[in-house]
Amino acid sequence: MQRPELELAAQDILLGNLRRGTAEWNGQEYSFVVPSLTGYPFQWFWDSCFHAIALIHIDLNQAKAELDTLMSAALTNGFIPHIIFWESEKRDYFLSRNLVATINPNFSSTIQPPILAYAVERVYHATGDEAFLQRSLPVLVKYYRWLKENRDPDGDGLLAIIQPEEAGTDCSPKYDEILGLTDLSNKGFIEALNKIYSSYELIRSDETGMLNADVFHVEDVLVNSIYALGLQSLARLLGNSIESLEFRDDASKTMESLVNKCWDVDTEAFLDLNGLQEIPNRTVTISSLMPIILPDLSPDIVKRLVEKWIISEDHFWLPYPLPSVPASNSKFIPGDPHGFIWRGPSWINTNWFITKGLKLHGYQELADDISAKSLACIQKSGFREYYNPYTGEGLGAKNFGWSTLILDM
Ligand code: GLC
Repeated sequence: MQRPELELAAQDILLGNLRRGTAEWNGQEYSFVVPSLTGYPFQWFWDSCFHAIALIHIDLNQAKAELDTLMSAALTNGFIPHIIFWESEKRDYFLSRNLVATINPNFSSTIQPPILAYAVERVYHATGDEAFLQRSLPVLVKYYRWLKENRDPDGDGLLAIIQPEEAGTDCSPKYDEILGLTDLSNKGFIEALNKIYSSYELIRSDETGMLNADVFHVEDVLVNSIYALGLQSLARLLGNSIESLEFRDDASKTMESLVNKCWDVDTEAFLDLNGLQEIPNRTVTISSLMPIILPDLSPDIVKRLVEKWIISEDHFWLPYPLPSVPASNSKFIPGDPHGFIWRGPSWINTNWFITKGLKLHGYQELADDISAKSLACIQKSGFREYYNPYTGEGLGAKNFGWSTLILDM
């Protein structure tokens, strides 16, 4: 597929999934792209950031509108929800089939990987729109402070998540143990999730209480790699200011802790830390490679990630890489997971991150190869939620928003 044709196809998805209107519950205008009109008909935090980045290649005004809409959902304390039910008439049906933590019925009370400042930086650079930057900065400052103040109780720079959906990699096998999952199916996962929800029932608005409950306390490598990326963007966007130094220091702290606490010399991968006791979780997944997106990672570590994991046919180097879980994992499911997602298929958003990291560290050719294979999946099967890493067969939702990130690869 040539570039103009690809852009037209991506435009069909992004503009086809566009929702514009005024929310009944708060009278606010919204204009954003849903991940999927059927499966995911609301605004999701990290999806929205990916949509904005893809929209840079299609429609700059819509890229700004996407992020403006997301930031308009920020609460006064700085928190930004991971789902916002702008079209509330669709909510009850969705909630009858999906579990979402809410305090206010119009949005979720949980987070998603904090890539927002990076998305704002990209859109700002593409548009040069100072007004957009000036209205974004106070929201970003409050949001990243909220994360630090509420999710990093031990002050090591690593945010803790309180339930798996916060990492955006919901049913990843790396959470099986902490979830106590024995029924390896979507049904089993929902049951395990329900138990967490019950333990939080009386403390949903108490972030510290939920962390201290230590039911699902995970310092997640993917979340924290993206957190460091966002902090670095925010520091740059703030220019020469005290606030900029604050976020630059925060980014360095997160980065140092990822290397000092999560890098495992034996596994040669980055491991999540489980529980208040910070027990390393030895299950390697796509998340274990994510610090590659950070510029200051040592060449030695990058080389180990590439050689041991990325280009190994035993692990991640399958015909349509990179699977969300290496083929060497006994729980790896390459085909249709029936809702039990992030356990094998390849996703375009993680490929976008990894190719970005590879280019940063001088592995241009390898990055180009992954991009070409990602494009091959899209050519073969359209913009799907995820793909079988052996065949490129499209799986999950159709006309899926963030697969248009191919435009940015
Ligand atoms: C699934 C994914 C999550 C994504 C959401 C909407 O729940 O696991 O990462 O944000 O769908 O696309």
